[in-house]
Amino acid sequence: MINIALLGFGTIGSGTAEVLKVNAEACKAKAGDEINVKYILDLRDFPDSEFGDRVVHDYDVIVNDPEVKVVVEMMGGSHPAYEFSVAALKAGKSVVTSNKEVVANFGCELLALAKENNVRYLFEASVGGGIPIIRAMTESLAGNEICEINGILNGTTNYILTQMKTYGKTMAEALKEAQEKGYAEANPDADILGIDACRKICILSALAFGELVASDLVMTKGITEITTEDVEKAEANGQAIKLVARAAKTPEGKLYMAVSPVAVNNDNPLSTVNDVFNAVLVRGNTLGDVMFYGAGAGSLPTASAVVADIIDICRCLGNQPEQQQWTKSENVTSEMTAEMAADYAKRVGTPLC
Ligand code: HSE
Repeated sequence: MINIALLGFGTIGSGTAEVLKVNAEACKAKAGDEINVKYILDLRDFPDSEFGDRVVHDYDVIVNDPEVKVVVEMMGGSHPAYEFSVAALKAGKSVVTSNKEVVANFGCELLALAKENNVRYLFEASVGGGIPIIRAMTESLAGNEICEINGILNGTTNYILTQMKTYGKTMAEALKEAQEKGYAEANPDADILGIDACRKICILSALAFGELVASDLVMTKGITEITTEDVEKAEANGQAIKLVARAAKTPEGKLYMAVSPVAVNNDNPLSTVNDVFNAVLVRGNTLGDVMFYGAGAGSLPTASAVVADIIDICRCLGNQPEQQQWTKSENVTSEMTAEMAADYAKRVGTPLC
């Protein structure tokens, strides 16, 4: 039996416990042994849940238990999620996370710490919900130099824009629905202001280019100023407004990064990505364009990515493969060259700022 601990029993934490239960046999076969949720750390108690007896309120119980091999951090926010991750890695436990804020802010340190302690720090669920994009970037696209990434990386804003376009709903109405469906962040400003998408493109560009840019260096504009009229005007022009996070190498070797609404041309596949779905369009120098598509938020889709990381670690207990290391970089610009902008307008669309 392989013991793990879940930190946080909210939307993703409870979904992870559910996936591990529903797919217990398949997970066991793939992990090589039964995966047992020994502890669940949360401030609350869950007397009505079948997992209620695993709940603890003191993190030391988990970090000091040598039987726990994997700590799964699904708390949200930077602190204490970062400190808990550091403590787990130093205690020789691998860490799985869905927490894009921690990966974007502290990915360099945590990857280095995992290496130092011969364990792994995995974060498949931090970008694109259930879409297997992290492994694709690190493994499946290894034979490419990545030239450009365009991503619809926030399910809440994509849901809102789709509801505005299809049903003429207001932003406030659609946001309320996204919150009810469990898509939005605890503070939905992170969604609608583009901050969440920005953290995710920082993670993807670090995977592509090995350099992690601090999210506050990236020009970021959300969807708050988009009106129903803008949506209709774009439609009349053969375009659809999407919040697109982008990263590309400029001809001078700088990293171009930005997040803002883009009027996406209808012949670009990103234009057809609707509701809570996310998509990541990656351009590789040997492959050309490839698009990854799937549910970008929500309990079970995100848990699916979390469980994949847990299984991956369980399969390699005692002998974790080395991971890519990142360095911090400030080599970033929010300006495309005129040539890049003209090419982008043809292939993808028109950034609205
Ligand atoms: N609030 C996020 C979103 C959750 O809407 O995409 C998934 O990261």
